[in-house]
Amino acid sequence: MKSPYKYIKPWIKEVEPYIPGKTVKGYVKLASNENNYGPSHKVLRVLEEKKSLVNVYPHMQEEVKEKIAEYCNIERENIIIGNGSDELIDLILKTFKGPIIALFPTFSGYKICSQILGERYSDIKLNPDFGFPTEKFIEKSKNSRIIFLCSPNNPTGTVIREDDIRKILDEGKITVIDEAYYEFYGKTVVDLIDEYENLIVLRTFAKAFALAGLRIGYGISNENIISLIHRVKQPFNVNSFAEYAAIAALEDIEYMKKIVGKIKKDRRTLFDKLSEKFRPIPSEANFILVDVSPLSSEEFCDKLYEKKIIVRNFGRFEGFDGEYVRISIGTSEENRKLISVLEDLFF
Ligand SMILES: Cc1ncc(COP(=O)(O)O)c(C=O)c1O
Repeated sequence: MKSPYKYIKPWIKEVEPYIPGKTVKGYVKLASNENNYGPSHKVLRVLEEKKSLVNVYPHMQEEVKEKIAEYCNIERENIIIGNGSDELIDLILKTFKGPIIALFPTFSGYKICSQILGERYSDIKLNPDFGFPTEKFIEKSKNSRIIFLCSPNNPTGTVIREDDIRKILDEGKITVIDEAYYEFYGKTVVDLIDEYENLIVLRTFAKAFALAGLRIGYGISNENIISLIHRVKQPFNVNSFAEYAAIAALEDIEYMKKIVGKIKKDRRTLFDKLSEKFRPIPSEANFILVDVSPLSSEEFCDKLYEKKIIVRNFGRFEGFDGEYVRISIGTSEENRKLISVLEDLFF
């Protein structure tokens, strides 16, 4: 038999696979920045009602866009819908030429997608306090063509100020601002799309709207960029359940705001508790990154796991001090349980 492996694209061997957070029955999962409240009951009702439609192709994209346009105060022509914002990252990288530059640490999806497509990817370290290094970023991104910035940033929860984003946009490169955690922060740069032709904002229904399992996100940019990215996407990239669920979720903004409010309150409570013993990083997202040294991050995670709580171990970030763990904010009940377990174990 002849070996098929000689046909592999050489750069595929370099791809670092994405490792998702563990899900174990009976455990509290605080490892993937999901929304443990679940979606509005209006979403659940619509999923039940629409199940007889699985034999037809999805056909509600325009209605979804209409709702998103209303939510974001923009036009339908400024929107593209993706199979999670993950897919939009991929589509952007298929549409525009690299090299790509991003932050470190940040969401691993940018690097993985770039590697899969054989594009050059490099990153620039955040400041030691995880703040955005504006001047250094501008200086070091001179040779790149696509910039991925995430604000609030995963996994640090830190944000980039609008005036810094403007400075980056002024450089004229394709600039993606990933606002997956926008609702937990409340500030956006969507309004800048009329001013900057090179801006693409990414959002998702996976976090505040609690639809991670259905896979739906959206991109916002000027009409020309959106129509270019549309050429690259598969015609039925988003399934009908995701479409109906997104519409229903946007018809119950009140519910989303209520649970986001609880998550932000619990984020404060958890931050204060962690501060008594460890070094949490102030966060504008639905998670907190915490330096648990002098414990090792592994020991911290293992001890919580023994108590049936799963958090995400990041270990040491190269070039930074500390032993890092990321903890998603669950429901208020889960947060109380977490705090009581932390007190038993470490205080
Ligand atoms: C910053 C960031 N962007 C994008 C994604 C992917 O989101 P989606 O579930 O919409 O693909 C995530 C998921 O955790 C994320 O943290």
